[in-house]
Amino acid sequence: MPVVTSTEMFKKAYEGHYAIGAFNVNNMEIIQGITEAAAEVRSPLILQVSAGARKYAKHIYLMKLIEAAVEDTGLPICVHLDHGDSFELCKSCIDGGFTSVMIDGSKYSFEENIALTKKVVEYAHDRGAVVEAELGRLAGVEDAVNVKAEDSSYTRPEEVEEFVSRTGCDSLAIAIGTSHGAFKFKPGTKPQLRFDILAEVEKRLPGFPIVLHGASSVIPKYVDIINANGGQLKDAIGVPEDMLREAARMAVCKINIDSDLRLAMTAGIRETMAKSPDAFDPRKYLAPARDNIRELVKNKIINVLGSDGKA
Ligand code: G3H
Ligand code: 13P
Ligand code: ZN
Repeated sequence: MPVVTSTEMFKKAYEGHYAIGAFNVNNMEIIQGITEAAAEVRSPLILQVSAGARKYAKHIYLMKLIEAAVEDTGLPICVHLDHGDSFELCKSCIDGGFTSVMIDGSKYSFEENIALTKKVVEYAHDRGAVVEAELGRLAGVEDAVNVKAEDSSYTRPEEVEEFVSRTGCDSLAIAIGTSHGAFKFKPGTKPQLRFDILAEVEKRLPGFPIVLHGASSVIPKYVDIINANGGQLKDAIGVPEDMLREAARMAVCKINIDSDLRLAMTAGIRETMAKSPDAFDPRKYLAPARDNIRELVKNKIINVLGSDGKA
């Protein structure tokens, strides 16, 4: 079976009130950890590649590794460009076999975002690929962008119908208070998300798949292991799991997770290096890192996403 689009996955997830995990991938151990976990619990998957990941590992290596995972597991896997910032980048990913791209025009005006998204949608749909767009801006840091909290903005529900009908996009990322990275809420405050905005978007776009970025929970267990072994991650706070479950019961069909993978992997490496300071065989510390990713993803699928048994 080749890589697939997310169309069928989202349809079933919407109707079944669960979500598909979209996990960021950068190398073989991450891809194996995620896909082995999903295979164990028979979950569909989206593996997403950022511009930074593509630059780090090269498109062809990631594509071949993902194809190997499809062959190894027999799972439906969608391969997606995360935060594409130009038509050219989206085109290059589609030409290189990705089945899905995100065009993130959220930094542009409403009209400019529509024009750019529409151009990507036309190119993608002609080639059997699907497109995620974004309205509203998340705070936080990615390789390519650093959006300060004061420059972030919630999605305006009154804009979503016009945006979706004029662009023809297949899914829509909205901003309801999550942010990228491991420091999502002020320490000492209660994490809050604007579920009222999500509910209003759902009402205006019945049946349409919504995407939640910045959805790592920043699992304390891995932060603690990192800090106990020489790390200094102070005040790391993520999205509480019950909020993610609530979003998945609503119109959110795709939940993006990267920071949790980074933390799980780093915890495995730091712990091993601290226990065995003389270790210099990369397999000695990358294998526990991959084990942590497998454990993390299995827990997410079963306890948060609800996509187990759906492949
Ligand atoms: O939302 C962004 C992802 O966490 C990817 O991050 O651009 O550093 O690869 P990156
Ligand atoms: P986190 O930083 O919360 O993992 O978000 C990842 C993401 O949204 C990728 O697009
Ligand atoms: Zn994102």
